[in-house]
Amino acid sequence: MTVTQGFEDFDVAGFLREFWQQKPLLIRNPWADWTNPLSPDELAGLAMEDHVEARLITRGEDSWQAEHGPIPERRFGALGRDPWTLLVQAVDQNVPEVAALIEPFRFIPDWRIDDVMVSYANDGGGVGAHFDHYDVFLIQGLGRRRWQIGGHCDQSTALLPHDHLRLLANFEPVEEWVLEPGDILYVPPGVAHNGVAVGDDCMTYSVGFRAPSRSELISGWCDDQLAAMQDDDRYSDPMLAQQENPGEISAEAIDRLHGMITAQLQDRDAFARWFGEFNSTPKYPEIDWQPDEQIDAAQLRSLSSEGASFYRNSASRFSYVRDSGDTVILFVDGESYECAGEAAELAEQICAQTRIHVESGAMISDTMLELLVSLINQGSMAIDD
Ligand code: SIN
Ligand code: CO
Repeated sequence: MTVTQGFEDFDVAGFLREFWQQKPLLIRNPWADWTNPLSPDELAGLAMEDHVEARLITRGEDSWQAEHGPIPERRFGALGRDPWTLLVQAVDQNVPEVAALIEPFRFIPDWRIDDVMVSYANDGGGVGAHFDHYDVFLIQGLGRRRWQIGGHCDQSTALLPHDHLRLLANFEPVEEWVLEPGDILYVPPGVAHNGVAVGDDCMTYSVGFRAPSRSELISGWCDDQLAAMQDDDRYSDPMLAQQENPGEISAEAIDRLHGMITAQLQDRDAFARWFGEFNSTPKYPEIDWQPDEQIDAAQLRSLSSEGASFYRNSASRFSYVRDSGDTVILFVDGESYECAGEAAELAEQICAQTRIHVESGAMISDTMLELLVSLINQGSMAIDD
């Protein structure tokens, strides 16, 4: 199955071997025909909306200010010539043309993709020198930006004191490039970087990845397990042997207590299901994508008998795990669906492609129909009319 519409002349295997998670790479315009998918005005419009996460960063003489969205229209009007930048998160979830930018990067598994943040800056604007905890492909959309790359940072790296921004106290660039529209800079986690707009109308699209922290995995997985636990599932010690010093917590007791935890948390299949649901949970659950009218299997059968196309909601994250044999568990929007046979094939197809087409007169089984109906009614897929 071909999934990714890749870049022209881009060596994926070489990139994964030599750069991914290791070192930055500048990729000069690899697109067949780069066109900026969103206008500055459309981005500003999104930043004014309630449900969209946006920030406006302005730079004075020697201080940085961060304002959180929604950003009112009059605020844009009041911006002067001092450098500023607008950042809007998860634009892919609102603009399918921006979601399409992810497609060529699908040589990385979908579950690792977080979102596409879009920035707009005037001349000199930027977010300051910083490092991120995740990999990012910075696509220059419009205008030009000078990117400087520094060394590797970690928790001990000194930051400037600021309530909202994590800016590096000392940034020493080791390399720099000016990116033109269509150029891409890959930056691995922990590598210092600083992007400054060269001229006005500078737009950058950040395809950002996710890397769950050990602490969020442990807390999420434990919370999930706790929800189903019984109060009478307790420590017990039949055949207790009298010990020399009653004050000692014996090694056997510690082993048994520790085993109560490890045995519970070791269920790999349960973990896989929890992780799939957790990872596909919508970032912005307040946005309701459900259709105005729910559809049932009979309606969908009659509709698809004449041929129909279905497309994935660009805000929904699809992934699956292979269970056993021909069974897969599909994860979408925090839900899981166990699929076997033809439904499993359909689930895999939906995960590979963002759009599927049912030919007129094609045989479509009840289980496939049931899966599609659920996905449509929960707002994860829609019928293309
Ligand atoms: C930007 O678009 O200005 C910042 C993106 C980043 O550094 O991660
Ligand atoms: Co960054």
